[in-house]
Amino acid sequence: MTHFFAGTDPSVSPRETRNQSRVRRAAAEGMVLLENRGGLPMALRGRRVALFGNGARHTVQGGTGSGEVNNRGFVTVEQGLRNAGAEIVTERFLDGDCPIGEAFPDADAALYILARNSGEGADRKNEPGDFRLSDEERALIEAVGRRYGGVTVVLNVGGVLDASFLQTCPCVNAVLLMSQPGSASGDALADVLSGVSEPCGRLTTTWGRYGDYPNAAKFSHNNGDTDDEFYTEGVFVGYRWFDSFGKTPLYPFGYGLSYTSFAMETENVSFEGENVAVCVRVRNTGSRPGKQVAQVYVSAPEGRLCKPYQELRAFGKTGRLQPGESETLTLTFPIARMASFDEARSRWVLEAGEYLVRVGEHSRRTKLAAVLTLEREAVCEQLAPIMPLDCEMEVLQPDRSLYYTYPEERSERETAVRLSLDGFAPSEAPARCAPKPDTSLADRLTSEEQASLCVGAPVRLVPGAAGETAALPERGVPGLALADGPAGLRLCPSFAADESGEVVFQAPAFGVEDPELLGKDRESKPGETVYYQYATAIPIATALAQTWNTELLREMGDLVGEEMDEFGVTLWLAPGMNIHRNPLCGRNFEYFSEDPLIAGLCAAHITKGVQSHPGRGTTIKHFCCNNQEDNRLFVNEHVFPRALREIYLRGFEIAVKESQPLAIMTSYNLVNGVHTANARDLLTVAARDEWGFRGVVMTDWGTTHPDSGHKYGNSSAAGCIRAGNDLVMPGEKRDKEEILEALEAGTLSKEALRDCAARVLALSGPEK
Ligand code: BGC
Repeated sequence: MTHFFAGTDPSVSPRETRNQSRVRRAAAEGMVLLENRGGLPMALRGRRVALFGNGARHTVQGGTGSGEVNNRGFVTVEQGLRNAGAEIVTERFLDGDCPIGEAFPDADAALYILARNSGEGADRKNEPGDFRLSDEERALIEAVGRRYGGVTVVLNVGGVLDASFLQTCPCVNAVLLMSQPGSASGDALADVLSGVSEPCGRLTTTWGRYGDYPNAAKFSHNNGDTDDEFYTEGVFVGYRWFDSFGKTPLYPFGYGLSYTSFAMETENVSFEGENVAVCVRVRNTGSRPGKQVAQVYVSAPEGRLCKPYQELRAFGKTGRLQPGESETLTLTFPIARMASFDEARSRWVLEAGEYLVRVGEHSRRTKLAAVLTLEREAVCEQLAPIMPLDCEMEVLQPDRSLYYTYPEERSERETAVRLSLDGFAPSEAPARCAPKPDTSLADRLTSEEQASLCVGAPVRLVPGAAGETAALPERGVPGLALADGPAGLRLCPSFAADESGEVVFQAPAFGVEDPELLGKDRESKPGETVYYQYATAIPIATALAQTWNTELLREMGDLVGEEMDEFGVTLWLAPGMNIHRNPLCGRNFEYFSEDPLIAGLCAAHITKGVQSHPGRGTTIKHFCCNNQEDNRLFVNEHVFPRALREIYLRGFEIAVKESQPLAIMTSYNLVNGVHTANARDLLTVAARDEWGFRGVVMTDWGTTHPDSGHKYGNSSAAGCIRAGNDLVMPGEKRDKEEILEALEAGTLSKEALRDCAARVLALSGPEK
């Protein structure tokens, strides 16, 4: 009889209550105050609030698709405001039975909640109602603002939208990016609006007008071609592009306001072994408490390689500083982090010249703190060339005269402290090559059994989980449950099993409201047991990253790990950590940032949190360049090796080196003509041999489905094993057959299959 981990008590558990308050804190910390012309903070208790907008009642807690979480319920904005003691005076308008003109009863304050939703399988559109505000939205915001002497606009969105109207509209007195912050959405919003929590989130992606992003007109469906995507912008992604190509963002990378003000001063820049250490003193100079983020950017010298204006190299966040209080942060980063990838010679190099260290509160407000000089080029790491381009492609070259600058930059450079990097000899990169898997168990299995282990199995253990590994009961090998992410654990909220342990009813794992599907009115039959699996929806990845608080990411990982313990899930199919290359990517909300340092550190910390629960692990995904959702299974992403190394692989490299996640999930797309699921260069050469990844690699779900007439075909199951992709998911009979046929035909080696099986066994195998 199946043993289920889920409980049978339908009441709210102490774990649910505890985790709800933990996500409420995290949600508030990820909100970013974009504008404040006196609108915030606002009192809520006992006040009449005129509430408008599609997100007021139909608040979006997270996007759609595999990132959905079936929590017991969540707090909408309307509920959150009521919980905080506000009276909502626009009830009839929210019910939809009152024309706008009559919907303006007297109130003390007005709020407009603008929501957007997106999810996997489709990209967003640069259209009114999606990336742009619609005429109706603008008209209503203006009318509300005029009627109430100003309106606070709250953005309940998963990604960027064109905020130019909100930036300039005189009727808008504040703009708060609430994001899509999970189970406690409305309560957390009320905390920030009322000042119980201070807004201290900072953007992790540049907010601009759509046409100002690189290759905007050619992205995905925009040019009618979803088969090929040409990354001609090279490493110039996000702020690297805006700063170097003369574009002015609406809200720059790293930006966010507070209810108080801060002074920031660099006290010292020095070397500590192979690290640069920057001491920054932050003082709260305003009249309310708050937290500040100190950001360190470095501008590398122009040599043979063209460099972006600046790149984020370190950051840190203060604690909650009371008015007048100070804190000194020491931000360190390895000297080698300033290196660029020289693709002609396949090596990381520090070119000779001046490295300008900039410290500040966001990417467009920094002060030059030090100049590090290097007389001769230093080679940091020599690597094997991987993933060569499969087409002719010219990189877009910036015009240096268009690089961002500010009036004091020149004098700051003249007076800045100068430190010499000469003599810096990067120690030989430690031999990271992952040890060969222990094959003692796998060697004893038949090829048939090995192939079974390398192909996923139907879900039995944890209803609503996305997949399972195959069990080999006669060998003592159990199956393991794999459940989505990244905004918490996606499981079915309830199910019923009969006396033999057979699941006879299962509420869907994807969010539905239909009571029949949810089994709300379903009568239990005698002998049935009903089980409950209510997980907590944590804020979407972008909102978590916006906290710039790696400890908080670790805490969210710990929260998920605790729920994995409770529900018997071994691998969480998260975090998602692709780069925000274009704001229309339908899954950006599942990803952290346009910057690989932030993405890598966020993934590493959330992984450490999960892995503080022995036996539980993360699956960092989607490896790599999953930056387009239209035609996601067959799009060929053409990327220069330099951009691949510096931008798209960098975050994964950081996450692997810093946290050794248990698993990696490959993406659906091709990179330079090869399906990532079949790319030995990525999985074996880069992840295992260079970075030392010791875990399991798995495919995304259904990558091996036979091609249905696309320009580029599907990946193959045998190709996965050849490349070192250990687990084909969700796993079908024909995947196993194909692996065995390739073995028989001699196109797949016995060792490759054995090694993949051995790595799966290292996760699921019996104790030796
Ligand atoms: C998604 C993955 C997810 C998997 C399992 C796929 O469609 O791309 O992110 O983990 O499904 O649900």
